[in-house]
Amino acid sequence: MKNKKKIKKLYDSSKDGLSSELYSFEKIKGFCHEKNDTKAYGRFNGKTVIITGAKGDFGQVCSKRMAEEGANIGFLDILDTESLAIQFKKEYPDQIFHSFQVDITKEDQAIKISNKIEKKFKRIDHLFNNAGYQGDFSNTLNYAVEDFRKIIDINVTGAFIMLKTISNIMSKQEPRGGSIVNTASMAGIGATPNMIAYSASKAAVKHMTVIAAKDLAPFDIRVNSISPAYIGPGFMWTRQVELQAKAGSVYFSEDPEQVASQMVNSVPMRRYGSINEVIGPVLFLLSDDSSYLTGIDIKITGGD
Ligand SMILES: NC(=O)c1ccc[n+]([C@@H]2O[C@H](COP(=O)([O-])OP(=O)(O)OC[C@H]3O[C@@H](n4cnc5c(N)ncnc54)[C@H](O)[C@@H]3O)[C@@H](O)[C@H]2O)c1
Repeated sequence: MKNKKKIKKLYDSSKDGLSSELYSFEKIKGFCHEKNDTKAYGRFNGKTVIITGAKGDFGQVCSKRMAEEGANIGFLDILDTESLAIQFKKEYPDQIFHSFQVDITKEDQAIKISNKIEKKFKRIDHLFNNAGYQGDFSNTLNYAVEDFRKIIDINVTGAFIMLKTISNIMSKQEPRGGSIVNTASMAGIGATPNMIAYSASKAAVKHMTVIAAKDLAPFDIRVNSISPAYIGPGFMWTRQVELQAKAGSVYFSEDPEQVASQMVNSVPMRRYGSINEVIGPVLFLLSDDSSYLTGIDIKITGGD
């Protein structure tokens, strides 16, 4: 484990009865190194994007990159995102930012918030339908039904509610249309052990994307998805390494360091991807650069 280094603590894993170790791999040790010097600019000038899960890791990096490219942003999360709106207004004074606290699993809340969004922004050009929850790590034999329901409620029903609510606005505005990216996961394609609920939920997100793409094409709305694999550092990386180890299975070690190593060594590039490397494809799919793509899923995996 020469290439492991400890990084600053990002979440309190003691709540899960876990150690406070984090597992990070110096990217220089992998292949095909990270490059963030994109030359794309201005693709979202004057456009409005709604980002769900805005307070999370993907949400915050997406917000930053969309703002850099000129977007107005509606930050949606079950957590309070007012601080994000204030911070972005300071940094990008010519653009519009609003925060909306919403539980995406509640249709009445989603409709109420969407009406407010419509009033504030007048139109919605893009939706990053991204809020999600990883849930427990446990063998199917012991997987709690309550947790299964919660994951399906957030990742499937919640994603559907936002997709339906925002695409209704997009279909009625003048000129009508827009583009949507749903966040699925490689867990939904590769079927990760100990993650029966999460994997099933993300397979559903990928499938809903294809159906919505067909249903919404006549309204000039494109719908695509992303399926990230091992992404770090961050809350989900640390959580999955520790909880996979703790759950115990024939597929992963009981030692979190070894689990991290097993995961990274299964990747052709021998490193996890950065959050920026997830958001690059998201911006491509949201932008007009992908105007002839709908119903597709981009696997963000460091190689197949
Ligand atoms: N990070 C990864 O390695 C990874 C890999 C594959 C897929 N994903 C998916 O990417 C998305 C974002 O992941 P992340 O790493 O940013 O996770 P995160 O936990 O940092 O962010 C998720 C956000 O969703 C919000 N949220 C949860 N339930 C909600 C609800 N009912 N209503 C509104 N907001 C709610 C949370 O408050 C949080 O801010 C998720 O859908 C996740 O499943 C992540």
